[in-house]
Amino acid sequence: MAATAAAVVVAAALGGGLLLLARRLWPAAAAGKGSATAAAAALCRMEGKTVIITGANSGLGRAAAAELLRRRARVIMACRDPARAEEAARELRAEMGLSSRERGGGRGELVVRQLDLASLGSVRRFCQQVLQEESRLDVLINNAGIFQCPYMKTEDGFEMQFGVNHLGHFLLTNLLLGLLKSSAPSRIVVVSSKLYKYGEINFDDLNSELNYNKSFAYSRSKLANILFTRELARRLENTGVTVNVLHPGIVRTNLGRHIHIPLLAKPLFNLVSWAFFKTPLEGAQTSIYLASSPEVEGVSGKYFGNCKEEQLLPNAMDDLVARKLWDISEVMVGLLK
Ligand SMILES: NC(=O)c1ccc[n+]([C@@H]2O[C@H](COP(=O)([O-])OP(=O)(O)OC[C@H]3O[C@@H](n4cnc5c(N)ncnc54)[C@H](OP(=O)(O)O)[C@@H]3O)[C@@H](O)[C@H]2O)c1
Ligand SMILES: *[C@@H]1O[C@H](CO)[C@@H](O)[C@H](O)[C@H]1NC(C)=O
Repeated sequence: MAATAAAVVVAAALGGGLLLLARRLWPAAAAGKGSATAAAAALCRMEGKTVIITGANSGLGRAAAAELLRRRARVIMACRDPARAEEAARELRAEMGLSSRERGGGRGELVVRQLDLASLGSVRRFCQQVLQEESRLDVLINNAGIFQCPYMKTEDGFEMQFGVNHLGHFLLTNLLLGLLKSSAPSRIVVVSSKLYKYGEINFDDLNSELNYNKSFAYSRSKLANILFTRELARRLENTGVTVNVLHPGIVRTNLGRHIHIPLLAKPLFNLVSWAFFKTPLEGAQTSIYLASSPEVEGVSGKYFGNCKEEQLLPNAMDDLVARKLWDISEVMVGLLK
């Protein structure tokens, strides 16, 4: 028994080894990207542009912050833990050879601001400060997310995944819309997931008080991200503000922090993720593309993967559900009493 199992593991490791080697040797091809990326990047200079990225201290958000900083944007890292955010900012500045005091001068700039999407009060305070301090906002990237946590509630009593991934960003975006409009042409980029396909907006139990299924709650929140994008795009027609949504693929980040992997399975998981998951920079390519590429100037209400438009499933194209979700979200976050 044990011997057979061991043989299977060895065979799998050998077979997997070849695949990994191929994937690591030709990462660009494996990620489905052309070699045009580097050339295109040169065209997407972000000098003079201000970008807000939620959850910019880790994973995809951090990679997008690094790249947009490299393209010389003023990047506002909107993060829940100021210490973790300052640390990430220090590392990014060091990588980029920027001093912390450097302001503007066409070299890009990183600013850390506190934002806890699990608190409507924090969202409001963050927006107040942005509206006071920033004269413009060119790009808002709704990137922060929480994945399959145990049942928890936000400060305002919302189920955590719906509260952070959807409602917190819903209020944030609405409070920043005026500044985005006055800075037009401007862009909103929403990070969703392919797992939206298992979601449904069950209006009778949005806070999962009757029944909590952590996978379903994540899928529901990511479906909400897409419905929100489509409804917002409709509302923003002719304003010069566009909004698009994307899935990043499967990326090696800290997102799985609530998933328990047995100790013995960890090495295998690490091997598989090293071989087959995207790096954060690979995963962030579509966010960066939607935030900066001239190719998507004026494009709005669309769903992207690997820097290309993709088709949505019917559950994400129901405009009546999108409108109803918008109306209920307005009430939940206190925009409408
Ligand atoms: N990784 C993937 O394979 C994958 C696949 C599909 C979609 N996505 C999506 O990609 C986005 C980025 O995730 P990631 O993979 O980069 O994961 P990550 O490394 O865990 O980063 C998530 C970020 O969100 C922040 N965040 C969580 N709760 C927050 C709150 N209440 N307020 C403010 N910020 C909060 C985290 O802050 P802390 O560091 O302080 O916790 C962190 O900065 C998410 O929306 C996720 O759903 C990821
Ligand atoms: C939880 O939801 C997922 C879909 O998101 C479903 O596949 C799974 O069967 C559900 N689990 C339970 C215990 O109902």
